[in-house]
Amino acid sequence: MKTKSKPKPDSKPRKNMPKPNIIAIDGPAASGKSTLGRRLADSLGYLFFDTGVMYRAVTWGALQRGLDIDDEKAITTLAETARIDVNPPSKDDGRLCDILLDGVDITWETRRPDVEANVSPVSAYRGVRQALASQQRRIGLRGRVVMAGRDIGTVVLPEADLKIYLDASAEERARRRYKEILQRGGEAEFEEILAGVRNRDEIDSTRSISPLCAAEDAVIIDSDNMNADEVFAKVEALCR
Ligand code: CDP
Repeated sequence: MKTKSKPKPDSKPRKNMPKPNIIAIDGPAASGKSTLGRRLADSLGYLFFDTGVMYRAVTWGALQRGLDIDDEKAITTLAETARIDVNPPSKDDGRLCDILLDGVDITWETRRPDVEANVSPVSAYRGVRQALASQQRRIGLRGRVVMAGRDIGTVVLPEADLKIYLDASAEERARRRYKEILQRGGEAEFEEILAGVRNRDEIDSTRSISPLCAAEDAVIIDSDNMNADEVFAKVEALCR
C-alpha cells in the first residue's frame, strides 16, 4: 500500500545522537514489521512488542464467545476487561511470543483465517483502541523498546525517538504472507490472501480513529525490492 505522505530521505545521519530509546515501526499488513522489529530488538537488547497481537487476541475472544462483530459495545467491554498477556516464547515452534487471553495460550489461534478476516473491523472501534493503546503506551514509555503496529508513531508513542514506516505493494505483501503460511505447513490460496490484505488495508487506512498513516517524522522504507537483511541493515544503520 503506497503511503500518501511525502517520502522523506530514508537514511538520515544521526551523528552524535544517542541510540534511540523508543522505536516505532508502523505499516500495512504483512509489510515485515515483526521480522524487522524482532531482529532490531535482539540486536539492541530491547523488548519487541507487536501490538497487532492484542487486537488479534480481542478478535479471537469475541469469536470464541460468539459475539456479533458488529456489536461495538460488547466487544469494547471485552477489550476493557480481558487480560491479555504477551510473554517471551515458551515453545520452540516458530512463535515470536506467547499470547495469552485470560491465562489461556491462544498464540496460534490468533493467526486463524476467521481472526484475520475480523480483526480490522474490531480494531476500528474507539473503545477497543482506547483500552489497548493505553496499555501499549504504558509499556512503551518504559523505554528500550521496539513497538510495531499501525499507529505507534502517530498516536501511541508520538515521542518515539525513531519512527519507521515500512511499506510494500499489496502483491508483494500477499506473496510474503502466502510463503509464511506454507512454510508453517498450512494451506493457502494466493488470491484469497491478496484480497484479505487489500481489505484490511482499506479498513485500516480509512477508519476514523487512528488510521494507518506515516507520521510526519517517519523514515519511509519501501521494501518491494529489498529482502529482510537489507531492510534490517538500513534500519540498524539509523540506530548507530
Ligand atoms: O501481521 P499483520 O501485519 O498482518 O497484522 P497485525 O500487525 O497482527 O495486525 C492485525 C490487525 O490489527 C491490523 O490489520 C489492524 O487492523 C489492527 N492493528 C491496529 O489497528 N493497530 C495496531 N497498532 C496494530 C494492529
